[in-house]
Amino acid sequence: MRKEVERILITDDQIARRLKTLARAIERDFRGRELVVVSLLNGTVIFLADLIRHLNLPLHLDFIGVSSYGAGTESGDLIFTKELRLDVRGRDVLLVDDILDTGKTLSRVLTKLRALKPRRIKICVLLDKPARRVEKIKADYVGFEIPDLFVVGYGLDYAERYRNLPYVGVLHPHVYQPPAKTPVRHERT
Ligand code: IMP
Ligand code: MG
Repeated sequence: MRKEVERILITDDQIARRLKTLARAIERDFRGRELVVVSLLNGTVIFLADLIRHLNLPLHLDFIGVSSYGAGTESGDLIFTKELRLDVRGRDVLLVDDILDTGKTLSRVLTKLRALKPRRIKICVLLDKPARRVEKIKADYVGFEIPDLFVVGYGLDYAERYRNLPYVGVLHPHVYQPPAKTPVRHERT
């Protein structure tokens, strides 16, 4: 295990098992419909690839690129780096993201998608961190609810690193926090 990862939070086996049950729930809700899966780049690539291989439904796939300024652990100002190409008017959309944190990203994307008049939009996320929510938004399908920890792996990054780890791990805070200063003693003279 890399020394920057404090501990494994969700193993690759746990993820694989959970994705199968998640896929069954999605199939049940969309039975008989053709789905447009809209996935947010870049964090969803691994989750998406594994999830859709369990989905026994006809589907189309498209991507929206979102990126926040800065490389930190906060979702700052969002910029769209890739726009949707498929026409979603009157269609059933499954919106996929890696993690629902403050909810700012998904609420921006939802506003954009709703303007395109799809028949319905359901949200699917691998991880949900409800403790940090600021926007009123809920996911319809959640892989795992997690506590307020910064996690990496299985697609999730810190400053674009660690996406290729096969598990979800807790990033050691020393990676994103400067080391605490050793207290300076002021001697009185
Ligand atoms: P939100 O806009 O605050 O909901 O954050 C969503 C985005 O922030 C995700 O798509 C991730 O890119 C990023 N993010 C939030 N929490 C984490 C985390 O714990 N690890 C890695 N990325 C995160
Ligand atoms: Mg990210």
